Amino acid sequence: MLPYEKYLAEVLIDETTLQKRVAELGQQISQDYAACNDLLMICVLKGGIMFLVDITRHITVPHEIDFLAVSSYGKGARETSGKVRIDMDLTAEVTDRHVLIVEDIIDSGHTLRFVMDLLSARRPASLKLCTLLNKPTKRQVDIPIDYVGFDIENKFVFGYGLDLDEKFRNLPFIGVVKPDSI
Ligand code: IMP
Ligand code: MG
Repeated sequence: MLPYEKYLAEVLIDETTLQKRVAELGQQISQDYAACNDLLMICVLKGGIMFLVDITRHITVPHEIDFLAVSSYGKGARETSGKVRIDMDLTAEVTDRHVLIVEDIIDSGHTLRFVMDLLSARRPASLKLCTLLNKPTKRQVDIPIDYVGFDIENKFVFGYGLDLDEKFRNLPFIGVVKPDSI
């Protein structure tokens, strides 16, 4: 038995399905930004890392990548408090540039609300959002999403960037956590 297997209830999105959708999103973004030669893709760490690395290889317009690390604090690991802080800021300039945020999952929406407000204040030319996963039923704050990989049910998932207590981000698929296994 592999270490992750005792936590896995089921594979929700397998590797083939994930990669196909990531390629489609990359193609869509390439079309939408065809006239843009100064795209800045911002990966929200740590969860967005796998998605950013894979999607960037399908993007045919010239673009820069940069990283922003944020975390929420105040409650348990699986429950949001709505309080978000910056752990690591960007190195890139945002002002007057076309910015696309790349995120792993939008749950309550607090993290992305914080990130979008932070980046909006730096006056980008445009600001859009691409998330691999979306849990619409958990939303507490309204977030305009431009690109969504998959809408999923309200289950705690892991793999492909998403962690289970900081582990298993390396799995090539999205799995549902087995209740009571953690
Ligand atoms: P939000 O602020 O509630 O939208 O939460 C967003 C952040 O919570 C994401 O960037 C993830 O890091 C984390 N998160 C939310 N749901 C899950 C999940 O099912 N698995 C792993 N991390 C999650
Ligand atoms: Mg996380």
